[in-house]
Amino acid sequence: MTPRIYNFSAGPAVMPLPVLEEAQRDMLSLPGIGMSVMEISHRSRTFAEIFEQAESGIKELMGVPDNYHVLFLQGGASLQFSMVPMNLLPKNESADYIITGSWGKKALKEAKRSGTVNVAATMADGGFTRIPEADELNLDPQAAYVHITTNETIEGVEWKREPAVGETPLVADASSDILSRPIPVEKYALIYAGAQKNMGPSGVTLVIIRDDLLKRIPDGLHTMLDYRTHVEGKSLYNTPNTWGIYIISLICKWLRDKGGLSEMRRENEEKAKLLYDAIDATDFYLGHADPDSRSIMNVTFRLPSEELEKKFAAAATAQGLDGLKGHRSVGGIRASIYNAFPRAGVETLVSFMEAFERKNR
Ligand SMILES: Cc1ncc(COP(=O)(O)O)c(C=O)c1O
Repeated sequence: MTPRIYNFSAGPAVMPLPVLEEAQRDMLSLPGIGMSVMEISHRSRTFAEIFEQAESGIKELMGVPDNYHVLFLQGGASLQFSMVPMNLLPKNESADYIITGSWGKKALKEAKRSGTVNVAATMADGGFTRIPEADELNLDPQAAYVHITTNETIEGVEWKREPAVGETPLVADASSDILSRPIPVEKYALIYAGAQKNMGPSGVTLVIIRDDLLKRIPDGLHTMLDYRTHVEGKSLYNTPNTWGIYIISLICKWLRDKGGLSEMRRENEEKAKLLYDAIDATDFYLGHADPDSRSIMNVTFRLPSEELEKKFAAAATAQGLDGLKGHRSVGGIRASIYNAFPRAGVETLVSFMEAFERKNR
């Protein structure tokens, strides 16, 4: 086998090796079943058990209260940009959007198609380098909901705590920091996340929705776009991504064995600190996000020129450090260091950065 390299990709991203090994071992035949997970009915008892492990895994790890539903849908976080306003933004009301980066902008664009939207804050002017302070938020107390992006994957800025939104339901796109640390789920009305960074393969979207929100959903939505369909059908209204849900069940088990989300946060903060310390140690590297808003998942930084950035990414790839080129919309360098990314890989990158600076300063 070609040796595995350090994969800094923003997503789909690195997976825990024990999960890949277990999936590989059971690929042709699940123990005692004689068929692959991809070959069995989504209505079979075997799949019901796998589904239950994924669902209870998420509930236990995240401490999801009983009045929430955990759904495994398809269409990516991008479809949630539309489903959230279609379900929760009535025609005569307005929703608040706090824009801290590129994904928030995309969510806003879709919400505008559904109804009235108030941009409660946008950090675009500063180039999306920080999370707004409480006094910078122009919140509408009557808003149908407030939408945030807990971690902006492209710019590398992350909310460290929830904004104070009073009684207004808080909706979050948590695609790139879900399961990276404990979060108080009860402060949110709805959380959604594509699986392909910290939770599993692409093709499954987690939605955690508080039960009372279902009453707000207007009648007449297309069946597949109505959250009630998936709550009533327990995510099995149509054929779900069985393989993706299976991998999520394995990742939940891996996370539990590691000590859960508090332990994950400890490891993630340590890994991120190694990199941010390396960036701060020199003026050759310039961190994109303000220190208070720095993501522990996506570490973004610049070099003195675009030419050097290209050289850096290419030289890193040649040394088995892949996926460091920043998103095409903002450039620079981005090191995505999700849960499964090993600390040794971060240490290798830090050594590479030091050597690269010595040669190219
Ligand atoms: C924060 C965030 N939101 C939304 C998306 C879009 O997700 P998907 O490709 O699953 O639609 C991404 C993808 O990388 C993301 O990082």
